[in-house]
Formats: sequence, C-alpha cells, structure tokens
Amino acid sequence: MATRQIKFNAFMRPASIHTGAWRYPGAWPDMNFNFAHIKECIQKLEAAKFDAFFMADHMAVLNMPMDALKRSHTSTSFEPFTLLSALAQHTSRIGLVATGSTTFDAPYHIARRFASLDHLSEGRAGWNIVTTSNPDAALNFGMEEHMEHDERYKRAREFYDVVTGLWDSWADDAFVRDAESGIFFDPDKMHVLNHKGQYLSVKGPLNIARPVQGWPVIVQAGASDAGRQLAAETAEMVFTALPNMKAGQAFCADVKGRMQKAGRNPEHMAIMPACFVMLGETKEEAQNKRELLDSKVNYANAIASLSIALGHDASKFDPDKPLPDDIPESNASKSGRERTIALGKRENMTVRQVAQRLGGFGGLAMVGTVKMVADEMEEWLTTNASDGFTIQFPYLPGALYEFCDQLVPELQRRGIFRKEYEGKTLRENLGLPRPGNRFFEPSKAVAAE
Ligand SMILES: Cc1cc2nc3c(=O)[nH]c(=O)nc-3n(C[C@H](O)[C@H](O)[C@H](O)COP(=O)(O)O)c2cc1C
Repeated sequence: MATRQIKFNAFMRPASIHTGAWRYPGAWPDMNFNFAHIKECIQKLEAAKFDAFFMADHMAVLNMPMDALKRSHTSTSFEPFTLLSALAQHTSRIGLVATGSTTFDAPYHIARRFASLDHLSEGRAGWNIVTTSNPDAALNFGMEEHMEHDERYKRAREFYDVVTGLWDSWADDAFVRDAESGIFFDPDKMHVLNHKGQYLSVKGPLNIARPVQGWPVIVQAGASDAGRQLAAETAEMVFTALPNMKAGQAFCADVKGRMQKAGRNPEHMAIMPACFVMLGETKEEAQNKRELLDSKVNYANAIASLSIALGHDASKFDPDKPLPDDIPESNASKSGRERTIALGKRENMTVRQVAQRLGGFGGLAMVGTVKMVADEMEEWLTTNASDGFTIQFPYLPGALYEFCDQLVPELQRRGIFRKEYEGKTLRENLGLPRPGNRFFEPSKAVAAE
C-alpha cells in the first residue's frame, strides 16, 4: 500500500479509564465485567478493522481510599488470558494483546500462556511487557515492598530474553508425529534453555510448540528512560502517553533512534499513544458531551487518581492552590509523575482542577467533529508524531459505535486506514516479520539478541 496507514489499538481494560464512564446516560454500567457486552464490542471493532484489542492488567484493586474505590467501575474485571481465550473463539482477525508483569509473574508461566493464546487464536497474540507500578501489588505476592524502579526494568530485560528463549524451545518442524516409527518429535529439534542469570533461573524447554507467529508481538508501555530503552531493544508496538504532537515527534525520534542504535529496523515498531476521542455533530456538541461526562467524576475519585499519578498522597494538598513544587519522586511510575506536574504548570491549574482532569482523562484528547478528529490524526501520522493510536473510549458502547461508524469510514475515504485486514496474524497486519528461531535458524533471529 502506497500511503502510510494508521494503526488502531482499543484500550479495553478497564472498558473506559474515565471514572465517570459507567454513569454516562445510555452507558452499560457493567461493561467491564459482562461477557456478552465485551463480545459485542470486539466484534464491532473487528468489523471496523482495528489492529488490536488490549487488556491491560493490574495485580491488585486500585490503590485508592475506600470512598473512591467504592465508586470505581474497575474494581471487578476479567483476568486477561481467560477472557482473550474466550474472545479468540468469537473473532478471526483482530489482535489480542494482554499485559504480563515481569515483576510478579514467572517467565515460564508467561511464555506458556502467550504461546497458548497464540495457538488458540491462530497467531493473534501480543504481550504487553510491564514492570507494574502499583506498589500494593507486592502485598498480593508475598512481598513486603515493591522492587525498586530501575531494578524492575533490569529484571524485565532478562525476563524478555528468557521468555523469547523459551518460545524458541522447539524448531517449527520439531513435531513429526510419525505413527509408523512411533516417533512423536525429533529430539535434535528441541532446545533446553538452561538459563541462569542475575534474577532468573529457568531450565526449559517450554512444554508447548513454538507460537504460530514465532513469537507473539512484543509490546511495551514504559516511558521513563529505562522504559524507553527496554522498548527500543524489544518492542514492536509501544503504548504510551503523550500530551501533544510535538511530544509525539520527540518521543518517536528518541525511541526509534535508540532502536537503530540497538541494530533494529525502525519500521518494525508501531508507536501508539493513548488517545481519548469524543465525537459530535459540531465542536460544541462534542465539548458538551465531554463536560457532561466529566461532571460524573466524584471528587474522591479525582483526588485518588491524582495521588496514583503522582505516587504521593494528594489529599493533603490545598485544593485551591497549584501543585506544590517539592513533590518527592516515588517508586511508582516516574513518567506519570512528571507528566502530571507538567500538566498543572502548563495550564496553570489548581490541585482541584488537575485532580478533576485526571479523574476523567488527563492525556491526549481529540474532541470535535469527524472531520476535525480525522485531520488531527492525519497530521500526527504525516508529521511522524505516531504510527497510530491506543483508543480510550469515553463511555461504552456509544462512543465505540460512533468511532467505528463515523470516524473509520472517513479515514478509509482518505486512504489512511485499511478496508480489509492484510493478513491473518497480528504480525502480518502490523507489517512485522516473523522472528526466526535463534537456536535453529540463527541467521533469521532478531537483531536485538
Ligand atoms: C496505554 C498504556 C497502557 C498501560 N498498561 C498497563 C498495564 O496494563 N499494567 C500496568 O501495570 N501498567 C500499565 N501501564 C503503565 C506502564 O507500564 C508504565 O508503568 C507507565 O507508563 C510508567 O512508565 P515508567 O515506569 O517507565 O515511568 C500502561 C501505560 C500506558 C500508557
């Protein structure tokens, strides 16, 4: 295809990140935990030719006070693999991406589950590598304290090597299943990893055949220096939070530059910032819809969302003053804290205003008519500010239907979004090569090793 194509990933866990979403008129309040609703939405997204359906994951309920938690539609959610395995049976082309934590999970578990999902979906799985920033998760896994931020990323890098090594346990043609001779597999085509590293010790081999895609697509969502470096060395899709086009251009130049230094081809990565899209017949109508949605945010949730973003209790700050200058760094998300402080300064906001924004959606928002949003997306694409977007639907199902029925046809008309899937697997649809097996076809193995 001649013209560069936009990529879309649907952020579906929680079904909307906006804390007022479930209270919007006409929204399904139980959307986040109702299989029939989720199935309807993924089928609609597939008919609209979305690249992927993404289930984020958190290893604990949100770390917020009860007055906020009791109002959160995210307090009950499906476990991503179970849900995606079920959805794989009701779809045939859309990618199925799940988060897997390198801090709280074991590489053998992660390698098995993603390999299984890749086989069940005939090559549509993607692994979002996260190091998990919620400190409360440690308490659910027998630890007293969360691992230190940069240490988490060092472990993540080793974890990636182990998981991809386990996926390469078997040559693609290892299973001969020769009933005549009674030989099921060829032992020369099985590799035992025998990994002993700084953080991990894993013998192998994996007890599942090599994934359909060779490796499920590798996704990364970190944004700190350590997060960007991990993305540059490993990721094929990057989910990130970027406030505007200028930041997008700088982020893409930085991460794709690092990627080249790591010996990788920059075309083998789709950078897809999170983007909240609210459509209206007119700009005013879209803005009014957003205001109505924002009015559903309770202040308890707003201030709790701010505390999470800062990694620091914001309830003690004076709500009518700007954010204090001396908010200490925490062991949670580094980039989240920086983005929030920058937002407050840029827009000259009080604590209350920043909190209210974050209880809704604090990041990149496109609010306007179909033409306005299509123009903005096209500009991001043509100025190399991103390769596509991770769409945050404001409320469901209404906003998802509007996106698919109104915006997608306009982007197709402009020739910048597909009318048909290019292939069967997520790799084929993203234009990514199938990695060779590092033990059995080393000449085709990816450069980052
Ligand atoms: C679109 C998007 C999706 C994310 N999904 C998850 C997730 O599922 N689980 C999680 O623990 N963190 C998730 N994160 C958070 C990142 O993994 C990371 O902690 C955060 O961006 C801060 O990056 P840093 O640790 O490099 O500062 C997500 C971030 C973005 C922007």
